[in-house]
Amino acid sequence: MAPTRAQPALPLLLLALTAVLLPGPGGARTSVHPPEAILPRGGSIQVNCSASCATPLMLGLETQLPKVEVDSGDNWKLFELSDIQEDSSPICFSDCGHDQETALATITVYWFPEVQLAPLPPWHPVGDNLTLRCLVTGGAPRARLSAVLLRGEEELSPRRPVVGEPAEVTATLLAGRGDHGANFSCRTELDLRPQGLGLFQNTSAPRQLRTFVLPVTRPQLVAPERLEVGTLEPVDCSLDGLFPSLEAQVHLELGEQRLNSITTYHEDSVSAKATIQVTAEQEGIQLLRCVVRLANQTRATHSTVTVYDFPGPNLTLSEPEVSEGNLVTVSCEAHAGAVVTLSDAQPGPPSSQVKFLINASAEDDGRLFSCSAALEVARKVLYKNRTLELRVLYGPRLDERDCLGNWTWQEGSQKTLRCQAWGNPAPLLSCTRKTDGALLPIGVVSFVKRELDGTYLCRAVSSRGEVTREVFLKVLWDNQNNLVIIIVVIIAALVSTLVLAAYLYNRQRKIKKYKIQKALEGATMKLNTQATPP
Ligand SMILES: *[C@@H]1O[C@H](CO)[C@@H](O)[C@H](O)[C@H]1NC(C)=O
Ligand SMILES: *[C@@H]1O[C@H](CO)[C@@H](O)[C@H](O)[C@H]1NC(C)=O
Ligand SMILES: *[C@@H]1O[C@H](CO)[C@@H](O)[C@H](O)[C@H]1NC(C)=O
Ligand SMILES: *[C@@H]1O[C@H](CO)[C@@H](O)[C@H](O)[C@H]1NC(C)=O
Ligand SMILES: *[C@@H]1O[C@H](CO)[C@@H](O)[C@H](O)[C@H]1NC(C)=O
Ligand SMILES: *[C@@H]1O[C@H](CO)[C@@H](O)[C@H](O)[C@H]1NC(C)=O
Ligand SMILES: *[C@@H]1O[C@H](CO)[C@@H](O)[C@H](O)[C@H]1NC(C)=O
Ligand SMILES: *[C@@H]1O[C@H](CO)[C@@H](O)[C@H](O)[C@H]1NC(C)=O
Ligand SMILES: *[C@@H]1O[C@H](CO)[C@@H](O)[C@H](O)[C@H]1NC(C)=O
Repeated sequence: MAPTRAQPALPLLLLALTAVLLPGPGGARTSVHPPEAILPRGGSIQVNCSASCATPLMLGLETQLPKVEVDSGDNWKLFELSDIQEDSSPICFSDCGHDQETALATITVYWFPEVQLAPLPPWHPVGDNLTLRCLVTGGAPRARLSAVLLRGEEELSPRRPVVGEPAEVTATLLAGRGDHGANFSCRTELDLRPQGLGLFQNTSAPRQLRTFVLPVTRPQLVAPERLEVGTLEPVDCSLDGLFPSLEAQVHLELGEQRLNSITTYHEDSVSAKATIQVTAEQEGIQLLRCVVRLANQTRATHSTVTVYDFPGPNLTLSEPEVSEGNLVTVSCEAHAGAVVTLSDAQPGPPSSQVKFLINASAEDDGRLFSCSAALEVARKVLYKNRTLELRVLYGPRLDERDCLGNWTWQEGSQKTLRCQAWGNPAPLLSCTRKTDGALLPIGVVSFVKRELDGTYLCRAVSSRGEVTREVFLKVLWDNQNNLVIIIVVIIAALVSTLVLAAYLYNRQRKIKKYKIQKALEGATMKLNTQATPP
């Protein structure tokens, strides 16, 4: 604000020129012109003192003010008074021979005050009374000076007189949300209209008020209870019911580390989201804090987070690919403090390391081993699982189970011929007829033909070797059956003829034999009786 000292350069302002004659003692008269004047501080004025007699013995002006006689006549003198800083009453005197007479002039000095609004608090809570203080320094004449407090252009109270130095004029305001951002100021009015001058207003520099609402509730913090080293976890903190939400600041911190967060503003609330990533150095219990700051106040919430490091267990096979009949070590090892469980292992005491041996067989090809590590973190058991597949090299294999050796099919029927070679690496199977190299129809045969009949040689080949197997495929058809019956009948007829012939022949022979026997028996008896000694 500019200084209020009225400039001496201001033009001289004279009041009404009504001459007022002051009666002096003894009837003599001295007059002054002007008898009343109002002028800006530091200004100057010309005062004409005159006597009623034609040639006064004495004529002058008595004043503290610097004065210069600028003109004179027989019975008058014109003085110039300058640099008038305050109200003053110069006295004109004259002596017409008998007595001295005097006349008083009244000079009123006016100047504009310096007005300012006492600083407002940086923030003021909504619902609290705010006292606005207007400070008025200087200014005159005070009787004509008043002050009023303003919100924008709106007057907050009646105009008040300005009393004291500096003068203080106050107004109390119940702060509301609508006062946020409002500009307050103070205006003084120097009303010199009765003196024929104007109404002079001086306004203080405006001050902007900021009001706020911050509930006493704590911000809501949504965060994980456990945080694994190396993983990313979201954290969210929000607070409702604040005003002006755009002015609120939210920050999240984990231990000493400030988290980079993104704050979102809503009409009456604010929320911040951050992503936490912890390092192995932070392992243990950490404090997570959310602080909402508005005006010069804060609201904070905290929670504890258990930071843990839990790499999955190391599941290993001594060899991921072995030939059957070899021993393989399956072992699983986890972080100290964790307990591992290995599939198919003998149950044992809880340990962070488990291993066992297996003799790899063909059945173990593709077998999955799984290891589960369990770690208790903040009263919760967490699991990390690993799975490995064992590859066993075996085969090629082509035995009765895989490829049936004997097939007997009826011509015209529908059959499925199964023949599969096994092994790792997978063997190549080919079956060809021994006689002509025709291929064996593996799979669905929708119409069995007699031409398929034959003996086939199946070969299964892999990088590990070769196995072979014979497959007999017999196809039965109707004509063949008739021939068989005819042959059987012919054979039966032949056989029966032969049998009959043989019987008849035998019988003939037996009769002859009997006769010869009888003859032989008679001769023997004769010999015996002759040989018997007496
Ligand atoms: C001063 O006053 C006298 C008497 O009223 C008058 O005659 C004279 O002219 C005045 N002087 C000036 C400079 O106005
Ligand atoms: C906030 O500011 C007000 C005045 O502006 C003061 O009374 C209060 O003590 C301050 N509060 C805090 C927490 O600094
Ligand atoms: C604010 O001031 C008014 C009077 O000016 C009073 O009635 C009211 O109780 C005050 N309110 C508060 C919150 O201080
Ligand atoms: C208050 O004053 C500032 C700067 O002078 C201005 O930007 C703002 O709009 C004003 N506020 C109102 C409510 O007029
Ligand atoms: C006060 O107001 C007047 C006009 O009303 C102006 O001339 C003057 O410079 C103002 N003073 C200050 C200190 O602003
Ligand atoms: C693995 O088992 C096979 C047959 O079951 C056996 O011949 C072989 O000796 C075993 N291997 C070892 C290393 O024990
Ligand atoms: C698992 O293997 C990795 C890399 O080989 C090693 O750094 C880590 O220490 C192992 N973990 C355990 C629990 O043995
Ligand atoms: C890991 O294995 C354990 C027990 O074997 C099981 O309870 C858990 O659900 C598994 N976890 C996962 C993620 O597969
Ligand atoms: C096929 O079957 C016949 C009789 O049913 C048998 O004599 C022959 O040995 C079998 N051949 C094979 C390879 O099993």
